[in-house]
Amino acid sequence: MTGRRLEGKVALITGATGGLGTATAELFAREGARLVITDIAEGPLRELSHRIGARGVDVVAARLDVSSAREWDEVVAVVRDRFTTLDVLVNLAGILDWPGIEDTREEEWDRVIDVNQKGTWLGMKAAMPLLRASGNASVINTSSVLGLVGSGAAAAYQASKGAVRLLSKTAAVEYARQGVRINSLHPGVIATPMIQDLLDEQGDQQPDIQRTPMRRAGRAEEIAPAILFLACDDSSFITGAELVVDGGLTAH
Ligand SMILES: NC(=O)c1ccc[n+]([C@@H]2O[C@H](COP(=O)([O-])OP(=O)(O)OC[C@H]3O[C@@H](n4cnc5c(N)ncnc54)[C@H](O)[C@@H]3O)[C@@H](O)[C@H]2O)c1
Repeated sequence: MTGRRLEGKVALITGATGGLGTATAELFAREGARLVITDIAEGPLRELSHRIGARGVDVVAARLDVSSAREWDEVVAVVRDRFTTLDVLVNLAGILDWPGIEDTREEEWDRVIDVNQKGTWLGMKAAMPLLRASGNASVINTSSVLGLVGSGAAAAYQASKGAVRLLSKTAAVEYARQGVRINSLHPGVIATPMIQDLLDEQGDQQPDIQRTPMRRAGRAEEIAPAILFLACDDSSFITGAELVVDGGLTAH
């Protein structure tokens, strides 16, 4: 996809310094968006902001722990002051925890649910007044293939990603007549820092890659265009949908 599909739009991205976040911020910048990039990793956030800003893009960087209602309110205030509007919210911040049911510790369960699940709700809650005021807004919530099918591991992560899927659908129904579309994104195995250890250890022999019909991990640059599609007006009649980008992993 080329062009200026986000010209005039303001987009807020959480987890913006991660693998998928960086690719999305870079693509959104090329597509004409004004950007609010957020993360808990403040050093990388400053670097990303300088890199994108050096190209003349209007970009603001703000620390945001998505599990904090207070920090969400602060960031939304920054958006209101700087841009007065918000048209796109991309909830990408997330953490992964592998243990299954019996080995998951309660603190880890709470942390994963707080960031992945509650963080997605808090983001929509805090940003919704601005998104409604936009009148033509889009929210992309990041679930996973592990929000669609069970893996036999990652109990807290799977629970959180399954919740993001249905939270997105109910929000889509709630806001459909108020000009806010809400969809969930379901990446498969994507080579980013989140799973880099696994890929370094196992390469293409990693079992989920072996189960992927395309027999490779996806690249962040292959996910960002799917997020762009949901963000821009090309998807104007799509809400409450699940966009799976997994090289065929969940097709069998
Ligand atoms: N990489 C994959 O294979 C894959 C597959 C399916 C879904 N996903 C999902 O995609 C999203 C992006 O993942 P990624 O692959 O880019 O991972 P990543 O680890 O590269 O990036 C995640 C980012 O989230 C940030 N973050 C962590 N906790 C945070 C918090 N409390 N508040 C704000 N930011 C926080 C991190 O600093 C990091 O920049 C995640 O929600 C992840 O669950 C990834």
